[in-house]
Amino acid sequence: MRRISILSTMLIGGFVLLGLAGVATAGKDEGQKLDGRKLFKEYCKPCHAEGSENGEYTPMTYIQDQWEEFFEENWKDTHGDLVDPHHGGKKVLDEITPEMFEAIKDFAIDHAADSEHPMTCG
Ligand code: HEC
Repeated sequence: MRRISILSTMLIGGFVLLGLAGVATAGKDEGQKLDGRKLFKEYCKPCHAEGSENGEYTPMTYIQDQWEEFFEENWKDTHGDLVDPHHGGKKVLDEITPEMFEAIKDFAIDHAADSEHPMTCG
């Protein structure tokens, strides 16, 4: 009898620990989510500010469908060969990782002209 209760205590303890670890990891993921607004400001705005010869682009320049189309179909064609002088002269496609790209895309779509909260990137 005694043996069994020790075993089950250990088992329950194990599950509690696993549960805690799960919570900790979830929290970490949350913290690591990239800030699309900051990224847009840092990586898009320098080339697309008001008066820029490349055109001024903020999330509310386009409606959601136009952003989808741009990120899915035009991004690599229009930016693939560009070098970004604002970030040490690296190629735009090399400096913006897939995670950053997703965050910027989500931000632009969430704040497009026809979204609930149209926004410039500030
Ligand atoms: C190094 C400068 C540079 C950076 C950084 C840059 N762009 Fe551009 N962008 C350009 C240039 C140059 C063009 C014009 C390309 C053309 O007309 O062929 C352009 C064109 C565009 C267009 C219009 C072209 C189309 O296909 O509709 C959009 C929208 C755009 N950029 C959005 C962005 C976004 C969003 C970011 C950040 C993720 C970004 N750009 C980062 C230089 C840049």
